[in-house]
Amino acid sequence: MKPALEGGKPVRKNFLVFGKPKITVQEIKEVISTIKSGWLGTGPKTKQFEEEFRKYIGARYAIALNSCTAGLHLALDVLGVHENDEVITTPLTFPSTANVIVHHRAKPVFADIDLETWNIDPLQIERKISSNTKGIITVDLHGRPCEYDRIKKLANEYHLFTVDDAAHAAEAVYKGNKIGTITDFTAFSFYVTKNIMTGEGGMLTTNHQQWAEEARTRSLHGISKDAWKRYSSSGFQPYETLYPGYKYNMMDLVASFGLHQLKNVSKNLIVRNTYWQMYDEAFKDLPEIITPAPTPKDLTHARHLYAILLNLEKLKINRSQFIEGLRLEGIGTGIHFTALHLHRYYQTTFGFKPGDYPNSEFIGERTLSLPLSPAMTKQDVDDVIKSVLKITRYYRA
Ligand SMILES: Cc1ncc(COP(=O)(O)O)c(C=O)c1O
Repeated sequence: MKPALEGGKPVRKNFLVFGKPKITVQEIKEVISTIKSGWLGTGPKTKQFEEEFRKYIGARYAIALNSCTAGLHLALDVLGVHENDEVITTPLTFPSTANVIVHHRAKPVFADIDLETWNIDPLQIERKISSNTKGIITVDLHGRPCEYDRIKKLANEYHLFTVDDAAHAAEAVYKGNKIGTITDFTAFSFYVTKNIMTGEGGMLTTNHQQWAEEARTRSLHGISKDAWKRYSSSGFQPYETLYPGYKYNMMDLVASFGLHQLKNVSKNLIVRNTYWQMYDEAFKDLPEIITPAPTPKDLTHARHLYAILLNLEKLKINRSQFIEGLRLEGIGTGIHFTALHLHRYYQTTFGFKPGDYPNSEFIGERTLSLPLSPAMTKQDVDDVIKSVLKITRYYRA
């Protein structure tokens, strides 16, 4: 069958948006009730969401924020990252994982990924540890937990902190331990495409009381405890500045989504798993496409992103043409991610160059994320499969 890229009939008439959120009538009602309550900023619904998320994760403390990036930034702030310190992380991630290191005038040190899991390789971490290393930021890429036994062992041995960027991994479990309870701090994202979404939003978890208190204070201008209540019915509360903090707090309007998104998270994971298996099954015998590595029994994958690897040597088109081909069939896709050492800022500032992290580069140049959302129907998944098969077969080398 001729692809739309060659003038053929597209698989879909209406475009399938990548990462479409599932919003139920409960969220809509909750948002309206929040608007009617007159309390739109940080307040009782943020507190309730924070507590329910904390319980879901099983962490001792949770701080609701306006993004995952804010959580990562606060974690490094509280852990005391300073100029000339080094923090080790993966190059195969979203820019903010490394940007927050730079915001502290510290140096991001990349450790390459494992080619099977696409997560940071503990062997490479150990090679990058120096006398300036302060800590490690892990990323549970696409929802698959990192190798925490080995990473925590290294952290203990070299006295390093661990911060987890769990933007993709709210549901993930590592050997019986929920992501969010393993590292010193864990930051979650509720950005619009995420498995729990509030439009924009994030959460920081930790089991350390003093760190939690500091992070909370710094998240709202660094002014004293419970400052969000300063205009409540209990009367104006005087406050003072304890740190030069940030404006990172979550609002009730946003938490209204989160409360119901959280209620549906397990149900949605079942749908994500079903669609994941449909993709696995459809692409398993195609030499042009490599499907994600199987998940070992002792891990729960959060199934945030289904990323295939294009075997470009077996195709007559490149990845951009593949993406354009899918777009013309009516399918939205994403790339998660282009390795950070190839981004202009990181090259010009730190002197990284192509070839420095070959595994991240290899994956970053060939990966392609297909739509995976509980807002999709099985027909949508079939359309994605049909489109991928159509393009792959037509452009087979
Ligand atoms: C791995 C990773 N880290 C961090 C972030 C940033 O999340 P937020 O937009 O909530 O700050 C993202 C967002 O896509 C991400 O994918």
